[in-house]
Amino acid sequence: MELRRVAIITGGTKGIGKAIAYRLAQDGRDVVLNYHGDDEAAQSALREFESLPMKAMTVKADVSTSDGASHLIETAVKQLGSLDILVNNVGPFLVRALYDTTDDEWRRTLDSNLGSVFYCSRAALRVMRERRGGSIINIGALNVEHSPIGVFEAPAYYIAKSGVIMLTRSLARSEAPWGIRVNAVNPGFIETESYDQYRAEDKAAWTRMIPLGGLGTPDDIAEAVSYLASERARYVTGTVLHVHGGLWV
Ligand SMILES: NC(=O)c1ccc[n+]([C@@H]2O[C@H](COP(=O)([O-])OP(=O)(O)OC[C@H]3O[C@@H](n4cnc5c(N)ncnc54)[C@H](O)[C@@H]3O)[C@@H](O)[C@H]2O)c1
Repeated sequence: MELRRVAIITGGTKGIGKAIAYRLAQDGRDVVLNYHGDDEAAQSALREFESLPMKAMTVKADVSTSDGASHLIETAVKQLGSLDILVNNVGPFLVRALYDTTDDEWRRTLDSNLGSVFYCSRAALRVMRERRGGSIINIGALNVEHSPIGVFEAPAYYIAKSGVIMLTRSLARSEAPWGIRVNAVNPGFIETESYDQYRAEDKAAWTRMIPLGGLGTPDDIAEAVSYLASERARYVTGTVLHVHGGLWV
């Protein structure tokens, strides 16, 4: 039985993030659900954790900024006394050709998908290095970092997600001496509100391409995160766990 541990999940009140938070709470972690935006929806998500014995709390913070990320980590540590697991889950889509992408869209997509991982990890490492241990799990997307043909439907998003994988590998190397493991999970197409934004004909075409058939669920991603966060993965760092039904792009 592992000791009770504290986990922060960015964007943890909705979709994949909420499923991850719920699974980590079932694993015996106290959980901090970060969000930015709708307070009512966040409180309603938090109520779903009431039946579990672990502590759950929300922290409102925009993790696409350095100040927001620091506020999140400091508040969580102050309230729950520790930080052992950080799941960098925030990562909004932008479906827009590069030619049509505005300066603001480019900046916001890079800041929220890649900047948030940097800001939150750096703030968390200040705590984890001191206690000489921890696990950081970054949520990427598909396996685009290997793609020899590039992507066209959401390039700024996938460029940022490719950066998340290099950031994962770089931190895995630099933080290993402190006993901190850093890994990533790359979801394929997962049944969520954000996936629903795509056009019906695109979704039908992609679903036909998935070797295992059909979409994944948020629980499929939560299962992978649960493993990487745990002592079962004590010798695993710098790896990317693909959870995409065999859809290599
Ligand atoms: N859904 C999919 O099919 C799919 C596929 C591949 C990868 N992913 C990745 O999985 C992760 C979760 O995806 P999802 O579909 O559940 O997303 P979602 O949009 O449903 O949830 C993300 C949450 O993050 C919050 N958020 C957004 N920006 C924030 C910010 N700056 N600060 C704090 N909170 C913020 C949102 O309010 C939302 O609650 C993302 O990184 C996404 O890129 C999703």
